[in-house]
Amino acid sequence: MKCIVDKLKKQQRLAPEEYRALLTMHDPQDVDYLVAQAREVAQQQFGKGIYLRGLIELTNVCRNDCLYCGIRRSNGHVLRYTLTREQVLACCEQGYELGFRTFVIQGGEWGEERSTWIADLISEIRTRWPDCAITLSLGEHPRETYALWKEAGADRYLLRHETHNDRLYSLLHPKGLTILHRLQCLDWLNELGYQVGTGIMVGSPFQSLKSIVEDIQYLVDFQPHMIGLGPFIPQHDTPFARFPAGSVDMTARLYAVLRLAMPSALIPSTTAMASLSPDGRLRGILAGANVVMPNLSPEDNRKLYALYDNKAALGAESAQGVKGLADELATIGYHIDWSRGDHPNKKQAE
Ligand code: 5AD
Repeated sequence: MKCIVDKLKKQQRLAPEEYRALLTMHDPQDVDYLVAQAREVAQQQFGKGIYLRGLIELTNVCRNDCLYCGIRRSNGHVLRYTLTREQVLACCEQGYELGFRTFVIQGGEWGEERSTWIADLISEIRTRWPDCAITLSLGEHPRETYALWKEAGADRYLLRHETHNDRLYSLLHPKGLTILHRLQCLDWLNELGYQVGTGIMVGSPFQSLKSIVEDIQYLVDFQPHMIGLGPFIPQHDTPFARFPAGSVDMTARLYAVLRLAMPSALIPSTTAMASLSPDGRLRGILAGANVVMPNLSPEDNRKLYALYDNKAALGAESAQGVKGLADELATIGYHIDWSRGDHPNKKQAE
């Protein structure tokens, strides 16, 4: 097993059956070796600094109906909200004072009629905090909309592909959504000069090992700047309420494999990791993740942005809890890196 890990570290790519072997190996010593090698590569790239992103959950209004997601359109139990422009700017202001230099505007997917409103918001953030990166995570849109937002000043875009397997994709999503279109959106974002993030939910219903291997292969081919991976966690008002959650172990193992395959990728240890296990966030970092995304949303709105049950939004998951996060990182010898944390190969000119 160790020689497969060494091969991945050296060549940054493996054959499907070799990825599979890494995902299924049982010997704890082998797993430790994988994770330790990934950690070493992350430290060569980023030292022991962890980049922060301030997450602002703009809205839980969504036109989409993804079967796993708590804010899906047909969930009638959600009290819907949209932050005002002033609220978003107040979040940025507070985040800036706390030291954040990246704002992530995430939300449910809206129709195009509100794209100009979003563009105006982006321009305002760009003008008021010119030294900050603006990341969007607002779902699928036409190329023109992505171009409009880029023009307005956005730098990065997160859009997980969720799964590369078209059959699984259609089991997780409503009719009309296709992996082909999702991949098209990712190509557009890339062409437009965004730093692009994509990724999957780990352990989603019906997911097979084979499909995870396909996801790794897609990620290695696409070479995203950012990789978002989190365990699936059921939400009680969705059709997947009774499915078991994905595992922190498997997610951490994937962080390690992807870190070895893409040494300079920005990989957050996601909120879903922290939500499933008290040491989930640190486990992710020790497996090669190098980003944490604390929540900057107004506190009253956080519980309404419930993609899954028991989502962590307080303590070290909250932007106001950065001191606690710093203390937590210090227990494993890591610290917060307060810089903007761009990908080294970012395309756009400053
Ligand atoms: N469990 C874990 N992650 C989820 N997401 C949505 N619903 C869930 C869930 N139930 C993730 C999706 C989406 C991101 C914003 O949140 O991968 O891309």
